[in-house]
Amino acid sequence: MKKLRIAVFASGRGSNFGALARAAEENRLHAEICLLIAGSPDAGAISLADDLAVPSRVIFRRQFTNRQDYIRALITVLKEHDARFIALAGYMKKVPPELLKAFPQAVTNIHPALLPSFGGKGMYGSRVHQAVLDYGAKVSGATVHLVDAHYDHGPVVAQRCVPVKSGDTAASLAERILNVEHQLYPEALELFARGRISVRKNIVEISGPER
Ligand code: GRF
Repeated sequence: MKKLRIAVFASGRGSNFGALARAAEENRLHAEICLLIAGSPDAGAISLADDLAVPSRVIFRRQFTNRQDYIRALITVLKEHDARFIALAGYMKKVPPELLKAFPQAVTNIHPALLPSFGGKGMYGSRVHQAVLDYGAKVSGATVHLVDAHYDHGPVVAQRCVPVKSGDTAASLAERILNVEHQLYPEALELFARGRISVRKNIVEISGPER
């Protein structure tokens, strides 16, 4: 089975990008992280990509006078690197519908809460964890899902819980969840890389041995 060629889209520090690249390097993920697309020139993920010898490109909407050029630039660079799958990891923009169409059931995102709770527009970074604490939820966690036209929405691929502990702050909860994300995202993408994922009526089904 050929390795899955994954492009990671990240706008921030890129720790999930790093976790995916390391998992691929260590053969825990049957994939090649063939490209980083940074949604911002300030993304820490860019220098991490240099360290990990992953090619990177900064592409964001405002670089282009019109939308079509932006989409074309994204599709061209993905083609140049023969990317077959897109993994969003702290990517702050919506994926253009043209890209979702070009990569059917092959775009995932990771969110630091148990969707459908505590997700959606504006729910990112410490806001997510603060909302969990303010609500008084006793568990939170991470979700990997297929991406559709809405923020933090689409069929769930994998979820893992962590406890919310008394005395938690948004920062302590974020750290506990981030550790889980670094395990969960490579594991979830390994299911795609091994051809074990199918989607029926918007529900992800996983074939093969129970995990
Ligand atoms: C993670 O918490 C991820 O769940 C969310 O954005 C954050 C990105 O962190 N979508 P990093 O840049 O991968 O460190």
